[in-house]
Amino acid sequence: MRIFLDTANIEQIQQGVKLGVISGVTTNPTLVAKEGHSDYKSVVKQICAMVPGPVSAEVVVEGAHAMLEQAREIASWAENVVIKIPATSEGLEVTSALAKELIKVNMTLVFSANQAMLASLAGAAYVSPFVGRLDDIGSDGMLLVKDIVEIFKGYNLTTKVIAASIRHPQHCLAAAKSGAHIATVPYNVLLQMMKHPLTDTGIERFFADWRKVSGDNT
Ligand code: G3P
Repeated sequence: MRIFLDTANIEQIQQGVKLGVISGVTTNPTLVAKEGHSDYKSVVKQICAMVPGPVSAEVVVEGAHAMLEQAREIASWAENVVIKIPATSEGLEVTSALAKELIKVNMTLVFSANQAMLASLAGAAYVSPFVGRLDDIGSDGMLLVKDIVEIFKGYNLTTKVIAASIRHPQHCLAAAKSGAHIATVPYNVLLQMMKHPLTDTGIERFFADWRKVSGDNT
């Protein structure tokens, strides 16, 4: 499973890329607004230049015509930009038009396997089932990821499944076990994935023992 960072925070992206485990970034209007970025174009271009892989940027207009126009515009900003389109019937129309123009789409706000199937048939390169938000309403978000992966495999559909709305490390593990191609994770979850208390106490003990034999009392 590949890991994308789910953020529009430039420092977090810099740090994540340095770790060498990030192969893409996903953003959405909420994440961009949270960082106080007012120039959408320049922030998307900046992120695209920093990341060695796909960067999802969402359309922020409504209506098929306006979405299509804006998607074409965003697609012209960088080679590695992927257009996030919401999972609606208008979104499907836009997705199929963009796919014909070889513009990659990440269909977002996916909450059912039917939405994912239609996204794939329309030519979306990625679908993003929102795991945490389904869990929030008492559904099993990861079951949706499993179902989509199984259906895509069964019919040799090449659309990649991005487990999104990831809230904690257990979600990442479950996404990997469910066969998700990608999990897009907030920066704090990425750090938590690498953290283990036994690693920390192990390091302390190794250093304490080393100081004893080396006579280093600092
Ligand atoms: O990748 C989608 C994500 O940004 C939504 O996460 O936590 O707002 O449901 P959340």
